[in-house]
Amino acid sequence: MNARLLLLGMFFCIASNVAFAISVDVTNNTAQTPHQATCFMLKENFQMDNDLLATQQTLNLEAALSKDIVTLLNDLEFKGKAGDFHCISAPVNNALHHFIFAGTGTDQNNEVGMEEIRRATGKIVNELKAKKIPAAMLRIPTNSSLPAADIAKQTTIAALLTDYQYTEFKSDYKHVDHTLTLVTADANDDIADAVWQGNVIGSMTNTIRTWSDGPPNVVTPIFLAEQAQALSKQYDCICTVFDRAQAEELGLNGVVAVGKGSSSECRFIIVEYHATDPDAPTIALVGKGVVFDTGGVNLKSFENMLGMKYDMCGAAAVLGTVFTIAQLKPNVNVIAIAPAVENKTGSEAYRPQDIITFFNGKHGEILNTDAEGRNILADGLSYAEKIYKPDAIIDVATLTGACIIALGHHFSGIMSTNQNLKDHLFNAARISGERLWELPMTNDYKKGIESDHADFKHIATGGFGAGASIAAHFLANFVENTPWAHLDIAGTAKDVDNVSYLNKKFATGVGVRLLTDLVLHYQK
Ligand code: BES
Ligand code: MN
Ligand code: ZN
Repeated sequence: MNARLLLLGMFFCIASNVAFAISVDVTNNTAQTPHQATCFMLKENFQMDNDLLATQQTLNLEAALSKDIVTLLNDLEFKGKAGDFHCISAPVNNALHHFIFAGTGTDQNNEVGMEEIRRATGKIVNELKAKKIPAAMLRIPTNSSLPAADIAKQTTIAALLTDYQYTEFKSDYKHVDHTLTLVTADANDDIADAVWQGNVIGSMTNTIRTWSDGPPNVVTPIFLAEQAQALSKQYDCICTVFDRAQAEELGLNGVVAVGKGSSSECRFIIVEYHATDPDAPTIALVGKGVVFDTGGVNLKSFENMLGMKYDMCGAAAVLGTVFTIAQLKPNVNVIAIAPAVENKTGSEAYRPQDIITFFNGKHGEILNTDAEGRNILADGLSYAEKIYKPDAIIDVATLTGACIIALGHHFSGIMSTNQNLKDHLFNAARISGERLWELPMTNDYKKGIESDHADFKHIATGGFGAGASIAAHFLANFVENTPWAHLDIAGTAKDVDNVSYLNKKFATGVGVRLLTDLVLHYQK
């Protein structure tokens, strides 16, 4: 039998302090690692292969289940289709053991898809949680043309994402540690490194998810700034935070205008990761950090206001990405900029028909204070371009309800006029599983923001439609000549249904996985 590489993942349920650790070990005997569950990912029309056979023999399965696995699964009509799932519990060596089977199905080329692997992992980990199983083995597919390291990395990420829950304010919550051991026949350093990377990405995503799920009376602009400072210290990043007075001084007037309606002061947060190579390319990420969006004086209704604590998920995504990258240390500089404000109705609140002179000197006419996100992103974009002269700028924002109407909750909208950057992003979407769908940017829609009284309006009026694209055209005024893409995550940041590794009740952490893969593969 091949030496088996055991990838030990300790994953913890989440409180505000998220501690993840993964340790890697090599053995040639799976039975040496104590565990209460043995989990299999099987593709459609799976055969009794070496690994299945080995497990069967090691655990003396036939004695336990009185049948070989394949016959048993046949009886249960488990065909290995995507979504097929069975848990069989039986005594093995006088202790109850769980055998968990999750199907991945196959595509047109008889191959297993990475998303199916992530979703099978999600089903398995949910079962481990439900049954409170502290230690389990997961045999990852080996008979696949997907690189084993990629499978190991994505399985690790999916397991960590599935494990997430927001428990900070649950008085009776009891914390239980789990261990998941990935089993694969190929013992090599690439796989160990991939699992380490997956652990970094998954755990940082879970950390920033706690900010998104956190209540808006706790997660204020100052809270986000403090988190950014603490993590910058931990991961050796440069953190700069401007308060309201400094933002006014600098002319970050879009941020100040939106923020001053709240007694909870705005913060302009910058985190820099610098690669050691002085010639490394630089990517700037700008994230919308509206910690709560009441709509401002154009106040939202009861239905529309619920959920608006998630209006800082763009900021969470860019901060999560820079802190992930600071651990993975690729040869790309990453600058994360997170303007953080609360959009509220205080006596200083900005109003419809105000004209804001933004950081780049352009004048924008406000028509609806509920279109606040683009005003803070505007300053973030031009600040990023002017100060850091990056090779590419990407902004991430829960920007428009229109994007949810267009794309629902399974695709983020991407708007860009730079084909090369779009190619990079679509490639990262394919790898990470964070799907993108392009929405148009055309001069016909640019007309929607022509203004009689200023350089442009910030929204279109009179049933113009194309709300997500209109927002992108407004933002385009704040990038001069740097490749730029806008990601609208209004639909994908929360409320994603039927994805086993995401919980509809909680933030998804969307953006971290995508942008991390973009940075890791980025070349000018
Ligand atoms: N934060 C909202 C967008 C949003 C809506 C995100 C629902 C997630 C779920 C944004 O600030 C907003 O209010 N947009 C307005 C823009 C309109 C006033 C032009 C919208 O989409 O209705
Ligand atoms: Mn709004
Ligand atoms: Zn908003």
